[in-house]
Amino acid sequence: MLKDYQGIPVTTNNTDILDSINFFIKELLRVGPDADKILAAADNNPNEIMPQLLAAIFYLYAQAGEFDNLIKTYLAQAKNLLRQSGEREKLYYAALRAWYRNDYHGAIKHFETITQLWPQDVFAIKVAEFMFYALGQGYTGKAYLKFTERMYSVNQHDPYFLAMHSFALELNGEYGLAEQEAQKAISLDSENVWAHHTIAHVYTKQGRLAKGINALTNYSECWQRHARPIQSHNYWHLALLHLEAMDIQAAWQVVKDHILLITPDMVLEQYDTISFLWRLEMAGHVVEQTIWQDVAKHVALHANDVYIPFLTAHYAYALQRANQTDVIQAMQAKVAESMAQTPVQQRAIWEKAGLPLIAASLAQAKGDHKRVVELLTPIMQCVGSVGGSDAQTDLFRYAYVHSLAQTKQQVAAQNYLQTMLKLYPATPLQNALLRI
Ligand SMILES: [Fe+2]
Repeated sequence: MLKDYQGIPVTTNNTDILDSINFFIKELLRVGPDADKILAAADNNPNEIMPQLLAAIFYLYAQAGEFDNLIKTYLAQAKNLLRQSGEREKLYYAALRAWYRNDYHGAIKHFETITQLWPQDVFAIKVAEFMFYALGQGYTGKAYLKFTERMYSVNQHDPYFLAMHSFALELNGEYGLAEQEAQKAISLDSENVWAHHTIAHVYTKQGRLAKGINALTNYSECWQRHARPIQSHNYWHLALLHLEAMDIQAAWQVVKDHILLITPDMVLEQYDTISFLWRLEMAGHVVEQTIWQDVAKHVALHANDVYIPFLTAHYAYALQRANQTDVIQAMQAKVAESMAQTPVQQRAIWEKAGLPLIAASLAQAKGDHKRVVELLTPIMQCVGSVGGSDAQTDLFRYAYVHSLAQTKQQVAAQNYLQTMLKLYPATPLQNALLRI
């Protein structure tokens, strides 16, 4: 049995397959543009289990129903090979089956076992990180940090591990330590785009806008050499920093140059776009109807793909802004249908926070602020459970503040904003949200 570059046994005797596996793992960790090369390795070698599992991972990340059959095929091929495979492949298969069923809690348990058996499996933490995203990275931040802390001593010199650990620290409000670990990660690899991402989160949460803009602008030179999702997302953070400073022109320029309708069918670009436009509207700026129509046209293709409430809430807002009422109705029917088949822990999140949030997103898109307040007030404690990172779910916190202000509840709006800000002064955008 051969070992991968992390020193972990892999069920294969073929060194070309081992090279493909190592390439995919490294590409995913550094967020490179060529992770799709694993697909040829999987298709040309149906009797090699690890490429089947990695190809399934490649498509699971997309959060798009159009890849459902491909995921099913790769997982089915992997299942047929399980008997002659090692323990790690068996555990990966179980984790991916859980992920495919939207059972993110179940998947995390399997990744916990994997990393207990092979603490050097940095790749496993990378995949597990997505499960924490699906369950709300801020909401489940403590569990994620426990995960990385447990593996710190073994992996403390790995720049991609440090990028994840720094993000886990940031999600727990440990901004100083997060910045320190992210800088360590960048010093080991200056093109460490996931550590750049931690820096973006830290400076945004601390309200250090000029410093954040400067740092991200410097880092951005290398982003074009990485995968499209991270380009979109890191530029989204840069645009957000400009927007927090209410430099609308600079924010728009970043979005037009690097995000808006560049890969319009990619889910991650879609929610980066919607999240920006939604904030822009709350800041009092008009988004042209043609832009919403263009965005909604592509969003409509994914509206019936139900994964996490975070995504569906973004779709709901965009579709409502473009008056796509038929698509919204079909989407709501699909949500009800999917919920019936969703594992119980995940269904509880949809029931408690997801459905009210989606209704509130629609209400805010219609300008019905009274309804938004009614829907959001009972769920603000658990809104982070719908999925997304701390910065991503701040969108819903901003929406709440905005609707409170629009219904002339300025004191409540101000008080809620204070609970979000803790030690830092309000940004120009946050002050704008309070205005009627
Ligand atoms: Fe982010």
